[in-house]
Amino acid sequence: MLKLSNLEVAYDESTVIRDVSLTVEPGNVVCLMGRNGVGKSTLMKTIMGVLEPRNGSISYKGEEITKKNATYRARKGLGYVPQGREIFPQLTVYENLLLGLEARSKKEEVIDEKIYEYFPVLQEMKDRRGGDLSGGQQQQLSFGRALVTEPNCLLLDEPTEGIQPNIVADIQEVIKDIKRNQQNTSILLVEQSFDFAKSVADYFYVMDKGRIVYEGEELIEEEVNRYLSV
Ligand SMILES: Nc1ncnc2c1ncn2[C@@H]1O[C@H](COP(=O)(O)OP(=O)(O)O)[C@@H](O)[C@H]1O
Ligand SMILES: [Mg+2]
Repeated sequence: MLKLSNLEVAYDESTVIRDVSLTVEPGNVVCLMGRNGVGKSTLMKTIMGVLEPRNGSISYKGEEITKKNATYRARKGLGYVPQGREIFPQLTVYENLLLGLEARSKKEEVIDEKIYEYFPVLQEMKDRRGGDLSGGQQQQLSFGRALVTEPNCLLLDEPTEGIQPNIVADIQEVIKDIKRNQQNTSILLVEQSFDFAKSVADYFYVMDKGRIVYEGEELIEEEVNRYLSV
């Protein structure tokens, strides 16, 4: 589904991603872990086409997309929930969701009912401005907006960061439901919480200083803590 090969990414002179290869198999939830600052968000932005890699390649659904722009990638079915959510605070909840349709260049203005089933608050608050929502509600909006595009591969960058426990539980259930009922959708999840990662993921990568230092189907807490503790 998604395959990164020997990616290297830099901001000007400072290299952040050194040599990352990573695969997301169809229908799998893959979790990427690592301390703050190791380059997880940089990697996500590179997959989405927001940043250009210096070396290496990205292929998606069997096509090399390394040189394709972000719009092309979104239309091809890559969905993105950025860290910090990045919803539009001045637009209503409904308008934010419609932007998802535009990203996928859909003509009809219909939000799939499924999204309101996942996140009822988005229906209840559809006329409220995004900026008036709580952090957790904004996270649900960002997630909902990505789902509107009907992605085949969803990139979630720390969706539970700074969010109240009941909304974390909701997000966990949504990921599990996608796994169960939308088997052609894969997820690449950046997550700091060991328990959350373990409860949803099929495969794990741990990154340190721009490199993958561990990968496997098992996530062994002591092993991973070596890389996650400061
Ligand atoms: N726009 C930027 N310009 C320069 N350096 C950046 C930029 N964004 C992030 N960095 C640096 O790149 C490194 C990796 O950041 P990031 O990918 O956000 O890490 P993570 O998501 O794992 O916490 C950090 O050292 C950070 O300071
Ligand atoms: Mg980050």
